[in-house]
Amino acid sequence: MEPDEEMNLQHGLPNEGQSEPSVPSDGSQILNGTVRTFVLRSGRLTDAQKRALEQWGPRFIIPFSKEPLAPDTLFHRAAPLILEIGFGMGQATWQIARDRPDYNYLGIEVHTPGIGRLVMDLVRHGIENVRIIQHDAVEVMRDMLPGASLTGIHIFYPDPWPKKRHHKRRLMQPAVVALMADLLQPGGYLYFVTDIESYAHATREVLDAQPLLRNRYEGFAPHQEWRPETKFERHARESGRGAFELFYVRI
Ligand SMILES: C[S@@+](CC[C@H](N)C(=O)[O-])C[C@H]1O[C@@H](n2cnc3c(N)ncnc32)[C@H](O)[C@@H]1O
Repeated sequence: MEPDEEMNLQHGLPNEGQSEPSVPSDGSQILNGTVRTFVLRSGRLTDAQKRALEQWGPRFIIPFSKEPLAPDTLFHRAAPLILEIGFGMGQATWQIARDRPDYNYLGIEVHTPGIGRLVMDLVRHGIENVRIIQHDAVEVMRDMLPGASLTGIHIFYPDPWPKKRHHKRRLMQPAVVALMADLLQPGGYLYFVTDIESYAHATREVLDAQPLLRNRYEGFAPHQEWRPETKFERHARESGRGAFELFYVRI
């Protein structure tokens, strides 16, 4: 996403309608694929992104499969695996992979220009410890990742779905969080960031209620020094919206 596109994604959606009914949901519709957490946007693929996808895509992009994955075979070495859900343009992805090289990273996104952009940055910075799947992250978690295979899960600025009748599309719901907890190894972490206060509080409630997760902090977490600011986050900050961060550990 370009910044304008990022802003539209965040603010183009109508404001939360007080009169609209909230649709109760535990996330099971997301888990069974009848409700999606994203809308496929048409965003423009630049020539450079297109070239990067053609030339380097096969090196980094793994096809979706319903068969369980053996994560270590995807990388040139065995290392603890971090999953990132919805990396957008991948700015945080490649910078974290560069700055914390002892981990392998699996980034999931559906937006083709963002995938092209991340592939460009991986090549440009000589980063080898990232792989990408272009697919619904919920299906990847459900069908492809073995239990206890992850050391961390990163969810930075997930689509906010501000209208109450769309809350059922929000990623952070009990059934999905239960799946995340199942995929984390004991001691592994889930790191969530949003600029939408209502989503932050709702997510905190869901995470607190998940018996396999424990909040590492009292309430919201401090900013983790190693997480870089994306353009998306900068725009949010410049518009007066701060970041709400949650950091939970798998028991
Ligand atoms: C608001 S953007 C934030 C992007 C990025 N994390 C950042 O902080 O700049 C959310 C992204 O999540 C992606 N997304 C939402 N649901 C997804 C899903 N189920 N699987 C894969 N990607 C998803 C969207 O395509 C979008 O690019």
